[in-house]
Amino acid sequence: MNRDLVDQRLASRKPVDRSGVWRFRECVLDIDESQIITHPEGGTRLYERDGIFFKHEGENPTGSFKDRGMTVAITQAVREGARAVACASTGNTSASAAAYAAQAGLRAIVFIPSGKIASGKLAQTIAYGATILQVRGDFDAAMKLVLEATKKLGIYLVNSINPYRLEGQKTIVWELLQDLGWQPPDWIVVPAGNLGNTSAFGKALVEARDRGWISKMPRIAAIQAHGANPFYRSFRENFATRHRVQAETVASAIRIGDPVSFDKAVAAIRATDGIVEEVTDEELMQAKRDIDRMGIGCEPASATTLAGVRKLGLKGTIVCVLTGNLLKDPDAIARGEIIEIDPDLREVERHL
Ligand code: F0G
Repeated sequence: MNRDLVDQRLASRKPVDRSGVWRFRECVLDIDESQIITHPEGGTRLYERDGIFFKHEGENPTGSFKDRGMTVAITQAVREGARAVACASTGNTSASAAAYAAQAGLRAIVFIPSGKIASGKLAQTIAYGATILQVRGDFDAAMKLVLEATKKLGIYLVNSINPYRLEGQKTIVWELLQDLGWQPPDWIVVPAGNLGNTSAFGKALVEARDRGWISKMPRIAAIQAHGANPFYRSFRENFATRHRVQAETVASAIRIGDPVSFDKAVAAIRATDGIVEEVTDEELMQAKRDIDRMGIGCEPASATTLAGVRKLGLKGTIVCVLTGNLLKDPDAIARGEIIEIDPDLREVERHL
């Protein structure tokens, strides 16, 4: 597949061409076009603010980057004759799985940790009609349980350990390269939780280089929250040991202590001469407020990117991938002052 074909498809009206995933279909999944289940997704904006680019994956149909992998995983699930799909989730995967399963007429069963799901994500998952199992425990416990349950009960697993998810998520990188006219940036900065995205980005960059789409390799900077930093700890030791932690952070999306795609993510960091950094909850929440005040907005986990850029002092062309929408986590918004007034013009004058 060559770049020109991908560029031509941008102008097409067909849903599979309009999809920022299936525009790259020859490099995503070998399947007949008629079998593709697409919302469509992708085609997200690339913003430039203060010299930094922001690829806003929160502009996907369910408000997070998960839709890019889910369209592929659900397409494959249907192809394999699945009737139900399952995932463990901190909220975004569950919302996406529920939406795509609804579209495909499949049952979605989601395993969520107790009490730590942002309200917007939970609302979506309920609304799209998923069966929700709230596990007394954290994400890592829910993940372990869903692995056992899907194996035992023959349910199709749609977590990012499923390789088809990562095939779809590669297109975040390809689309941002296309957005930049195929001029590769110096850095691609991504939040790191379960490490699916970090893994997919590495694969996408290697494939893009091998196909001659880019002549220079961008470097990946994967950013973790300090309280959920097993990948950062391992990076500091040149990945000599695999760390596991008891995770705690305000960025509930990445409250993960034992990421499943650890090994693939190590390969991605190595292949791109990448780095891993950690930021505190204060640093990521400050960055979130700044992204919000740019008029763009994102959920807390996504803001680890800007916080990481600042901490690392990155220079050159930088693309931060904003993984989730502002509305996903309305409780994470600093209480702004709301001024209550009578319906009287003098009151308006008095307060402004
Ligand atoms: N940002 C957001 C908004 C997320 O929802 C996630 C993961 C990540 C970043 C981390 O990406 O896992 O590929 O390293 N959310 C998963 C979920 C765990 O269940 O929705 P990762």
